[in-house]
Amino acid sequence: MADIGLIGLGTMGAALALNIAENRFDLAVWNRTGSRTSAFYDESGKLAQRITPTYTLESFVKAIRPPRAIILMLPAGRVVDDMITELDALLDPDDLIIDAGNANFHDTNRRSAGKRPFIGIGISGGEEGARSGPSVMAGGLRKYWDRVAPIFDAIAAKYKGSTCAIWAGEAGAGHFVKTVHNGIEYADMQMIADVYGIMRDGMDMNSQSIGGVFERWNAGELKSYLIEVSWKVASTRDVITGLALLDVILDKAGQKGTGQWAVIEAQQLGTPVTTMEAAVASRNLSARREERIQAELVFSPAMIGGTKMVIEIDVLERALLAAKIIGYAQGFAMISAASARFGWALPLPDIAKVWRAGCIIRSAMLNDMAAALAEAPGRNLAFAPAFADKLDATQGDLRSVVADATRAGIAVPALSASLNWFDEMRTGRGTANLIQAQRDYFGRHGFQRIDSDLADHHGPWISPDKDSQVPGTGAMNM
Ligand code: 6PG
Repeated sequence: MADIGLIGLGTMGAALALNIAENRFDLAVWNRTGSRTSAFYDESGKLAQRITPTYTLESFVKAIRPPRAIILMLPAGRVVDDMITELDALLDPDDLIIDAGNANFHDTNRRSAGKRPFIGIGISGGEEGARSGPSVMAGGLRKYWDRVAPIFDAIAAKYKGSTCAIWAGEAGAGHFVKTVHNGIEYADMQMIADVYGIMRDGMDMNSQSIGGVFERWNAGELKSYLIEVSWKVASTRDVITGLALLDVILDKAGQKGTGQWAVIEAQQLGTPVTTMEAAVASRNLSARREERIQAELVFSPAMIGGTKMVIEIDVLERALLAAKIIGYAQGFAMISAASARFGWALPLPDIAKVWRAGCIIRSAMLNDMAAALAEAPGRNLAFAPAFADKLDATQGDLRSVVADATRAGIAVPALSASLNWFDEMRTGRGTANLIQAQRDYFGRHGFQRIDSDLADHHGPWISPDKDSQVPGTGAMNM
């Protein structure tokens, strides 16, 4: 009998199933379209001996040893709820359902509060990761995770011998951590796209040379999977035209929604994740291609006469480094806020550790981040001495890159969002005194004075119309 069952043989599901079989677990698989199941089985080679293909849900359930554990690898939303309902009718009360797709953690909270044993696990690493070792972020009742941990520990990526699988906390904690991972993924990708834009449009570099820059950076502090991916895609030629493949790809970014979930959640938590927000907004803007093309004709170009930007590649590298630290700091601050809000004890250093291998945002920096987060729980990652020193040493580069790009009219949404976050964060006396004054003037919302602990001061404000002092809000005098 199978040790575990898996439903959903799409790209990620199929890869995960093969990984499970390769790690010597027997598994039963089912897919709503049976032809996909038989094709998967036929292509599974020597791993077929560990796989039981099934063509009805009844035979799938019967093929798994009780108490059963069933992994769902399905698109987020309704499909998962419908599948749970269908399975519920066939399962024993203590059989466990595991949603290992990208779920909204609120759905996972709801599903794990039901009668059916249920846990949500975030899996990262794309197809390659799912096949050969993903990063695993689990949530739900610990006793349910313990039942399947040996399987997930076995299939997870390893970083210098340590397993990249974690139980983050109860209910939707695992899917929440995966959502933040994806928010950071969006931020990271957009920052790289920003520097790509500078090199392509500002410095007139071709894809091949840009690929060479990414390749070099991948040997330094920026070493990461996404820089490696960027190097490889920038260096690839189109088999049809012979041009750089990047140059024939339409500039409209897709998105399945996890980046949006991350920024919506950050807003609900009151955590500023400006770099993620800029990255999501930039994908949305990219989709408005027709509007962008029209606007290009309306406005005069910012870069006069095609003058090239002159930026040293090393300066660009250090600017990206600074922005990246800020993007990650925002993500970890969001996890910290959620931990307090939802009563989880999300282990930030351990989360950084499971991101060191297998997942999309894996990067050389995460090992130091794990150490910095462990040093002083609750402290913003950007203020940890190791990262504060790096930020201080590179902030000038980020500043000059953003300034030069802005002057040239090259959009750098993620880099500038990072820089603005940094500048706001390091400003002891900000400008919110004016916001408070405006709020009190038009709505009598009150403000706190710097020389008093009382929270509820009002004006009195000058009335612009009457040029006289008015007590309290000016709204009444307008
Ligand atoms: C991962 C990825 C993955 C995500 C894709 C596409 O960790 O393996 O985050 O879960 O679905 O990267 O995401 P978008 O379509 O939203 O870009």
